[in-house]
Amino acid sequence: MVDVTDTAVNVDVLPSDWQDQVLSLAKARDAVILAHNYQLPEIQDIAHHTGDSLGLSRVAAEAEASTIVFCGVHFMAESAKILAYEKTVLIPDAAAGCSLAETINADQLRAWKAEHPGAVVVSYVNTTAEVKAETDICCTSSNAVDVVASIPSDQDILFCPDQFLGAHVQRLTGRENMHIWMGECHVHAGINGADLKDRVEAEPEAELFVHPECGCATSALYLVSAGVVPQERTKILSTGGMIDAARETTAEKVLVATETGMLHQLQKVNPNTIFEPVNRAAVCKYMKMITPAKLLRSLQEGIDEVTVERDIADRARTSVERMISIGTPSPTAE
Ligand code: 13P
Ligand code: SF4
Repeated sequence: MVDVTDTAVNVDVLPSDWQDQVLSLAKARDAVILAHNYQLPEIQDIAHHTGDSLGLSRVAAEAEASTIVFCGVHFMAESAKILAYEKTVLIPDAAAGCSLAETINADQLRAWKAEHPGAVVVSYVNTTAEVKAETDICCTSSNAVDVVASIPSDQDILFCPDQFLGAHVQRLTGRENMHIWMGECHVHAGINGADLKDRVEAEPEAELFVHPECGCATSALYLVSAGVVPQERTKILSTGGMIDAARETTAEKVLVATETGMLHQLQKVNPNTIFEPVNRAAVCKYMKMITPAKLLRSLQEGIDEVTVERDIADRARTSVERMISIGTPSPTAE
């Protein structure tokens, strides 16, 4: 039985023993705490598992715990609920949204499908459960190329919602019959080609890790083809892929083009290399809405619970499971 007598948590004031309280409440609630790579460092450090969006949903599905506390944004907690429907899924602040997921809703997707009958819909996991329910196959940044390549070449594809990830996949697959939704993440779109060019020119020895959602992903590939950055030093990677690459690199410095929360995990897995952001202002305000005080309150009060209608969850699960059977998602850190 969970002791919830002290429920008056002020989310601005944090008790000094908050870590101990979080861990003992998690035990009392039979809860596992998951954190995305963009979370605040103290949230990443207290979590039982830290990783990318898909890797974490898989952990959720396989976890023995009856409750999942998802420290990330709402669509990620929803994905966990879709894959682990019988479990209780909590998010410490349900208002933690995603500007990319908001660029397309189920009505818009249905209208787009009506314009392209017979096309296969591929949606990035940064979408709501309702959009996933209208989707044939989901993808993440780590397996989008494999997912698109698995679709017969004569079938049209509707790819949503991220235009930069779509352009990256189209470039790698050479697919011409792929229609791309013009959505973007405000954080990644803000990391532009000009920032990247300046940083690369100032640090000619550094390696470059670029998330494919970035506005600069195209510039990175251009700089490679123009010979400004050698190909072997430029990697277009998902957040999970960045962790794998960080473990292996022997470079003195790596420039990282993604949300800055990523730097904590990269530095942790490889303390010998310096990881620096391409743009220090690339901070996702939604990810940072999950604070230690809200995590504590979530465990004390059992809030905010994530719910998805069963019918939507069942249809959405089909598209997520198709993806899992095609691509290999990145592992997570313990
Ligand atoms: P990953 O799927 O690579 O973890 O990225 C999720 C995300 O929100 C990127 O902005
Ligand atoms: Fe969404 Fe962008 Fe934040 Fe990722 S970084 S959660 S895509 S708003």
